[in-house]
Amino acid sequence: MQGNPPAGLEVEAATSLDADSITELASRFFVEEGFQLPAEGLQTRVGRYLELTGHSIFLARRGEHLVAFATAAVGFGLEYGWAAELEDLYVVPPERRRGVARLLVDRVAGWAADHGCSVVLVTVTPQGERSHTLTDFYERLGFSDRRRRLLERPLA
Ligand SMILES: CC(C)(COP(=O)(O)OP(=O)(O)OC[C@H]1O[C@@H](n2cnc3c(N)ncnc32)[C@H](O)[C@@H]1OP(=O)(O)O)[C@@H](O)C(=O)NCCC(=O)NCCS
Repeated sequence: MQGNPPAGLEVEAATSLDADSITELASRFFVEEGFQLPAEGLQTRVGRYLELTGHSIFLARRGEHLVAFATAAVGFGLEYGWAAELEDLYVVPPERRRGVARLLVDRVAGWAADHGCSVVLVTVTPQGERSHTLTDFYERLGFSDRRRRLLERPLA
């Protein structure tokens, strides 16, 4: 376990005023991790995410600089009732291994609990596993690998 939260860091929920800086950081995340950028552009998606009920984006700032973000959405199903999905999580390289992601994920977990969720879910891609050993990382943050797989059926 890490001790104190990283010094000089502030975590807050994003508002529509943050859309441009989130888009910039999210673009960096998608490019670095090799995710396909949406045809409509990330800006539009970020704007919609910020407006939708049950969706939230949390930001970590050092001074005026945005250094990390996390996105999360809640949904309802028979298995878990309300459940939150941690969808995106990115910390700029110079800020890694200082507890920034832990702080953001704890914030997402608190938000999810406040929304009546019984669990936080996250998907680990093969690329994320290769590049960042994400299963180990998430296990350190209290997630457990139940060996589920996420399959996709694209719709035109
Ligand atoms: C993965 C990522 C979010 C980690 O952020 P971070 O701020 O460095 O993580 P933290 O410093 O909060 O680490 C939390 C714990 O996980 C451990 N950890 C951090 N990165 C790890 C990694 N790549 N593999 C294994 N453990 C890791 C830390 O040592 C720490 O453990 P401890 O608190 O038990 O001592 C960051 O490397 C990143 O943005 N990677 C690129 C994007 C990405 O892969 N995002 C996740 C997919 S959606």
